[in-house]
Amino acid sequence: MNRRKFVKVLGTVTPVIAAMPSELMAFNKVANGPIVISTWEPNKKANAEAWEVLSRQGSALDAVHQGVMVPEADPEDTSVGLGGFPDRDGKVTLDACIMDHEGNIGAVMALEEIVHAISVARLVMEKTPHVQIVGDGALQFALENGFKRENLLTPKSIEAWKNWLKKSNYNPMETVELIEERIKKNHDTIGMLAIDSLNNISGACTTSGMAFKMHGRVGDSPIIGAGLYVDNEIGAATGTGVGEEVVRICGSHTIVEAMRYGKSPEEACKHALERLISMKGENHARKIQIGFIALNKNGDYGCYSMLPNFTMAVHSQDGVQIISAKSIF
Ligand code: GLY
Repeated sequence: MNRRKFVKVLGTVTPVIAAMPSELMAFNKVANGPIVISTWEPNKKANAEAWEVLSRQGSALDAVHQGVMVPEADPEDTSVGLGGFPDRDGKVTLDACIMDHEGNIGAVMALEEIVHAISVARLVMEKTPHVQIVGDGALQFALENGFKRENLLTPKSIEAWKNWLKKSNYNPMETVELIEERIKKNHDTIGMLAIDSLNNISGACTTSGMAFKMHGRVGDSPIIGAGLYVDNEIGAATGTGVGEEVVRICGSHTIVEAMRYGKSPEEACKHALERLISMKGENHARKIQIGFIALNKNGDYGCYSMLPNFTMAVHSQDGVQIISAKSIF
């Protein structure tokens, strides 16, 4: 679909947006110029870094790459990169992916001992004929390309792991509850989307994944179509929360397709969550936090979550905004 057709499709939903209450319209504000959005309020720091790139007429790809490197390097952030909570064997394993406006993609999964998983994912995209490299192969590829091996455990993450070990039984639902607890206190995965001054869209997503997961477990975050998707003619989406459930509905791709067929970013995020409810039922969905954010080609943005307390950080020419997502339950 070309841009003219896209604008025409959006035109069909304009009256609906015009009829929305004012607080809802704030979720769909049209940005004039570059914009960056990311999952979770604390990631306004990451957005600020991305905004620096965008305001220098840098590319959306460089913006999202440099933006998500901020929480990756933060030892206090227990969900991403250095300081991310380990798996049940005490190993920090990172998942990340990146996608640009030309449909180029790169991902690493279960990468150990490298702080900036997103930079390795970008290198997979730009320097290899492949799109995904996992585990030891990803580490080998990173080391061959000059990345430094580092211990990603911190005193805080070791203590959390030792506390978890006291129960010494593995129950996947228990880890779901633990990640919910962590989300309440802090935040989870960073997914970031940006539009640059050439009106090109890119996205990045990076995480240490579900705390105390099985060794080798991979969630949604490095899976293109699940944790992140970009279609430069339509828009982009990314998410956070329980990865198993996001993969089940190909969350980010589902959102972009819903925008293609006329939904606003917020409506599209809600639509993907409703897909999970249709598939697995309300009782299942009520126990799961998922938060989605989306951005369309016009710079309209929106978010929605399954449970309360999900936030989105926005940085545009209008400054910084923190948006509390509406939730299904
Ligand atoms: N969304 C992060 C994960 O489930 O790994």
